[in-house]
Amino acid sequence: MTQRTATLTVDGNTSEYPVMSGTHGNDVIDIRSLGGKTGMFTYDSGFLSTSSCQSRITFIDGDKGELLYRGYPIEQLAENCNFLEVTYLLKNGELPNAAQKSDFENTIKNHTMVHEQLVKFFQGFRRDAHPMAVMVGVVGALSAFYHDAMDTSDAEHRSISFNRIVAKIPTIVAMAYKYSMGQPFMYPRNDLDYTANFMHMMFGTPCEEYKPNPVLVRALDVIFTLHADHEQNASTSTVRLAGSSGANPFACIAAGIACLWGPSHGGANEACLTMLEEIGDVSRVGEYIKRAKDKNDSFKLMGFGHRVYKNFDPRAKLMGKVCAEVLGELGLENDRLFKLAKELEKIALEDDYFVQKKLYPNVDFYSGIVQRALGIPTSMFTCIFALARTVGWMTQWEEMVTDPEYKIGRPRQLYIGAARRDVPPITKR
Ligand code: CMC
Repeated sequence: MTQRTATLTVDGNTSEYPVMSGTHGNDVIDIRSLGGKTGMFTYDSGFLSTSSCQSRITFIDGDKGELLYRGYPIEQLAENCNFLEVTYLLKNGELPNAAQKSDFENTIKNHTMVHEQLVKFFQGFRRDAHPMAVMVGVVGALSAFYHDAMDTSDAEHRSISFNRIVAKIPTIVAMAYKYSMGQPFMYPRNDLDYTANFMHMMFGTPCEEYKPNPVLVRALDVIFTLHADHEQNASTSTVRLAGSSGANPFACIAAGIACLWGPSHGGANEACLTMLEEIGDVSRVGEYIKRAKDKNDSFKLMGFGHRVYKNFDPRAKLMGKVCAEVLGELGLENDRLFKLAKELEKIALEDDYFVQKKLYPNVDFYSGIVQRALGIPTSMFTCIFALARTVGWMTQWEEMVTDPEYKIGRPRQLYIGAARRDVPPITKR
């Protein structure tokens, strides 16, 4: 087949660029030679039209509302696999067989404890610090604790780092919570599976044994699966960019956590619940919808809209189902905020403004309500997201450092500041 090309004409000069096709999704124009051929760069603030890498991990079809991990639809993975199987899939490219699954689960289970010295690190934070601030610090600090396997060119070292962070991140999230509550840290329990153990470390106390409810454990496990990876989103791109300099992987994950914290990204689940609390009652939904549409008001409906999904977010559909199951299990079907969320969703979906701008509920719309029902405080919501996304970040980091085309990330700019000028003497300023 002949190579397709895109032709660019600038000031009468024409240059050609190869068109590349992937397995699914939009073709891309390979403009790596653009600077050399034209002396120009492209301008794409917010990377609306830029592919930063070739990837084999996750694919989103925003129009169809489809999300695939290694080719498998998210609905099938959420239904048939647990989070550690999905983790294995993302890491290795294939689902595990029974022996591989058991082996991987044992490896993770046996590395859940953190260095005892890390406890002291927590004590340096104020108790009222936001748990995401604590996470940024503590996860970054892991790079100082586990420096025995840090040769990023060594596959074995990278695999150890992957397993370490996946095993320890639930322990760290639970410690951040316990620290904020002034409660003792709970050591992990190897007789529990990944998610049940996390719930034990979150909600257990040394005073009595914590008995995880299987329905709630399964719900949280599905939440983890839904958040595990999501293509080249802001935090993943942050991890890749930080890692592109050869930085320590734990430090890169800390950078990803910092990015995720923002309300336009992972912080939206927390912001969504705060918004629902602020609206307070179904009778005030109209007033808030009006504000969301007002150009002069900075208020946005949190949990609505997505850069890529322009039809529906498949994660939100699954999350809605999980939400109903959890509320049913806990007898909270008449929960005030759940009813309010349903009404808000209904009105927004029928409203011309939201229809025309293709604004649909995203994963964060329901995840806050589920987490609240599970007993997780609002300030911890984004930490739960970070726990799950750590798997995607590490997978994407691994893919980047093993890519033969791997280069340090270094975007260009269009400079619009002051033209070159000379420093005047102080008497003339
Ligand atoms: N409420 C009201 N108007 C909105 C909203 C919203 N939630 N989202 C977008 N719009 C409007 C926006 O004002 C803009 O209007 P106009 O064309 O008149 O300027 C138009 O829709 C396009 O929005 P945009 O902000 O240019 O779109 P984007 O692709 O850059 O942003 C987004 C996507 C997710 C940042 C944005 O929809 C948003 O801020 N949503 C609320 C926060 C949220 O729920 N974030 C979670 C994302 S999913 C979790 C994750 O994967 O991280």
